[in-house]
Amino acid sequence: MVTMQIFCEKDYDAMSRRAAQIIAAEIVHAPGCVLGLATGSTPEGAYKYLVDWCKAGLLSFRDVRSVNLDEYKGLAPDHDQSYRYFMQRNLFAHVDIRPENTRVPDGLAADPDRECAEYDAYIQSLGYVDLQLLGIGRNGHIGFNEPGDCFIRETHVVDLAESTIEANSRFFASPDDVPKQAISMGIGAIMGAKRILLAASGADKADAIYKTVCGPITPRCPGSILQLHPNVVLVADEAALSKVNAAS
Ligand code: GLP
Repeated sequence: MVTMQIFCEKDYDAMSRRAAQIIAAEIVHAPGCVLGLATGSTPEGAYKYLVDWCKAGLLSFRDVRSVNLDEYKGLAPDHDQSYRYFMQRNLFAHVDIRPENTRVPDGLAADPDRECAEYDAYIQSLGYVDLQLLGIGRNGHIGFNEPGDCFIRETHVVDLAESTIEANSRFFASPDDVPKQAISMGIGAIMGAKRILLAASGADKADAIYKTVCGPITPRCPGSILQLHPNVVLVADEAALSKVNAAS
C-alpha cells in the first residue's frame, strides 16, 4: 500500500524545483531548522534553485544547521570528489549558512568508529533532523546504507557495494580511484528525521523507486524502510516513477 505523498514531475528540472520548494518552505517555516543533506547528481538541481532564491533575497540559511548523510573514507575535505567539497561547491559557498553550522562526516578521521559515535551524538544534540533530503542508489541504498542482511541503526563505516563503486566511477578517473569504504549515517538517524524528502530522477532509478514504495520492507532494499516513516514526500520525475505508475 502506498502511503507516501508523491509528486510526479515532468523532468529533472521540475523535480529539482519541487524539491527546492519543499526545502525552502521548511526554512521559511523554521529558520533555525536542522536539514539533513544529500550529495549525488540528484540534488544538484535543487541546490541551484536554493542558491538562486538565496541570492535573490527570498531565502536565508543564516540560522540553518545541516548534517550530511555520508562521506567517502580516505578523501580529504578539499578532494574534488569528497562530499564536503561537493557541498561547498554546490551549496554552502553560495548561501549565508554559517560554516560552523554545517557538518559532514570526517573521511580522514584517525578513529572512524569514534567519528561515527560522535556524529550520532551530534545529531542527537540537535534534536534530530527536521527535514532529511535523500537520493537513492540504483540498488536501493539510502545514504550509503547498502543492501544487506539487516538495517544498521548507527552511523557506521560501510564497504561499498560493487554496483555502487561502478555507478560512482563516472565521477572518478577510473573505477580503481573510487574509495571502497564510506562513513554513512545509519537508518536510525534517517528514520529519526521528522520529515523525509526522497528525490529521484531517471529511468535507471525506476526499479529502486518501485521497490522502495511498493516492495516488501527489507534490508535488501534499504529504501523500503521509508514505508514505515509517517512523513515521507517522494518527489520524482516521470521516468523514475514509471514502474510505480504502471502498477497503480
Ligand atoms: C550516492 C550517495 C547517495 C545518493 C546515491 C545516488 O552514492 N551516497 O546519497 O543518493 O548514491 O546518487 P545520484 O543522485 O548521483 O544518482
